[in-house]
Amino acid sequence: MPEAMPPLLYGTAWKKERTSTLVELALRLGFRGIDTACQPKHYDEGGVGAGVAECLARGLTRESLYLQTKFTPLAGQDPNRVPYARQANLATQIRQSCERSLENLRTTYLDGLLLHSPLPSATQTMEAWQVLEELVRSGVVRSIGISNCYSPDLFRKLCEETSIKPHALQNRFYAKTGYDVELRALCRRHGVHYQSFWTLTANPHVLEDPRLQAIAARYGKTPAQTFFRCLMHEGIVPLTGTTSREHMQQDLDAVRFTLEPHDVRVIFGLLGLP
Ligand SMILES: NC(=O)c1ccc[n+]([C@@H]2O[C@H](COP(=O)([O-])OP(=O)(O)OC[C@H]3O[C@@H](n4cnc5c(N)ncnc54)[C@H](OP(=O)(O)O)[C@@H]3O)[C@@H](O)[C@H]2O)c1
Repeated sequence: MPEAMPPLLYGTAWKKERTSTLVELALRLGFRGIDTACQPKHYDEGGVGAGVAECLARGLTRESLYLQTKFTPLAGQDPNRVPYARQANLATQIRQSCERSLENLRTTYLDGLLLHSPLPSATQTMEAWQVLEELVRSGVVRSIGISNCYSPDLFRKLCEETSIKPHALQNRFYAKTGYDVELRALCRRHGVHYQSFWTLTANPHVLEDPRLQAIAARYGKTPAQTFFRCLMHEGIVPLTGTTSREHMQQDLDAVRFTLEPHDVRVIFGLLGLP
């Protein structure tokens, strides 16, 4: 069984040589869920492992953490830094990527392994999914999921035509896709955790809206905290990749207060959603 997913995840993209220090700080402040990827172009997965190891050495237990990483298909990799044999078949690439993640993260199991994106065809995506299922059966991966999947048809297939169902869908949360209304309904129906990224970056119009700001002020919170909290009330697990200690603390604090249902509805109204 997968470990319980924390309500908020710390994202580790683009941190380069600051990755281990920032992961260590995030864990020290109270984050328990970490998102990364075996994709050297954007993530220093080894740096994540170093930050985690530092905290484990000081008493944090591996079981208290939720470590999630991704298999990134060849098209998403820097051709000069592919973390698996690029000529190998898809199944081998996925197994090698998973082994590399285990080494980088210095762990014997992953709480979550996501396909970073669907493969070019649905057939290949289903083929990749079967390899993820094998990894779950072998015990090195506790749960599997997908990211950047904006097709309800494909996602439905993963929910309905597989033996091991998705545990997470990680998508960009923005207006262009109508905030994934249909996909999020599928997640609710199938018990999948919907994880949002680009949550603040893509929604300045919401964060700057006087109605959100008034709600935030009433609770004594920042607009970002209020928005994150609102999404959590809807069962969304936001990712934050903040590099600021103050923002980390604010984001963690967002888990600890409650918005009235009416305020949640007002904020969803700002997204154009019921
Ligand atoms: N699956 C994918 O394809 C994919 C793609 C992109 C990202 N991700 C994941 O999602 C994570 C988050 O990425 P993101 O694109 O959502 O953006 P992000 O890295 O979280 O950036 C958010 C921006 O908002 C700012 N910010 C302002 N107030 C904040 C507050 N209270 N809390 C947090 N940030 C605040 C941050 O600045 P400060 O640093 O100054 O706080 C930063 O510039 C990544 O690290 C990665 O793990 C996944």
